[in-house]
Amino acid sequence: MSQEKPHQNAETPDPLRKIELAPGSAAKHVIAVMSGKGGVGKSSVAALLAVALRRAGRDVGVLDADITGPSIPRLFGLRGRPRAAQGEGMMPVQTATGIRVMSINLLLPEEDHPVIWRGPILSSAAKQFFTDVHWGRLDYLIVDLPPGTGDVPLTVLQSIPLDGIILVSSPQELALMIVRKAVKMAQALQVPLIGLVENMSSLRCPHCGHEVEVFGPGTAAAAASSGAIRFLGRLPLDPELSAAGDQGGLESFTAPWVADLARWVE
Ligand SMILES: Nc1ncnc2c1ncn2[C@@H]1O[C@H](COP(=O)(O)OP(=O)(O)OP(=O)(O)O)[C@@H](O)[C@H]1O
Ligand SMILES: [Mg+2]
Repeated sequence: MSQEKPHQNAETPDPLRKIELAPGSAAKHVIAVMSGKGGVGKSSVAALLAVALRRAGRDVGVLDADITGPSIPRLFGLRGRPRAAQGEGMMPVQTATGIRVMSINLLLPEEDHPVIWRGPILSSAAKQFFTDVHWGRLDYLIVDLPPGTGDVPLTVLQSIPLDGIILVSSPQELALMIVRKAVKMAQALQVPLIGLVENMSSLRCPHCGHEVEVFGPGTAAAAASSGAIRFLGRLPLDPELSAAGDQGGLESFTAPWVADLARWVE
């Protein structure tokens, strides 16, 4: 006996329907940066990818979907508030080199003002940053996700039309195990994986130049090949990178490997 499909009321929103950018805005590529684990460098990688693409002459936006732990404005030293757009919505705030940014921290009275909202509200804020911000014409919109596989990453993967996901891991086995969860989540939601990057792989001693694998030898390359996901490469642990981020000067960070990041998506 054939089963009848449940009646779908036209008024009922389809949970799998993708949302759209505001009229007049368009992005050729929408890419999320994700990891199951906190503190592995998602925001740094998202921001550096934006910097690399901007240096290559692309029009780039960064949507900070980490509503409770936003870090993108700090990395770029942004303090301005988004202007209201004509009609509805908001304009993103521009960095020194013209990267367009939207983050909850740009809307809060103080940078350290906490956001104490439950999951569904956090998710709807992330969606509004996509639909209600006048991003304009972008080559790339980079979405920085909060850690884990909770409400906000789930909503972003389900409702934002993503071209792909970049997964970030650190060399510890634990970080990698948690990345595997993120891989499975992306596969379950049928969002393409661009690849896996291992961050904080090794530190070059400033005195003797010797490379130290601070967290042990990385396992990301092997795991990527066993999980049939492209290995994008290793990024060094570089104290100058964290200093640049802390000072809001990520766009002035000029290590030669930054240019390689643009090649992941170009
Ligand atoms: N390759 C690196 N070299 C040196 N410091 C780094 C590197 N990557 C990240 N960091 C530093 O590690 C800290 C955590 O990085 P970041 O905020 O990018 O991680 P995250 O995964 O986005 O964290 P969260 O899960 O809280 O969102 C920051 O202080 C950042 O400056
Ligand atoms: Mg982050």
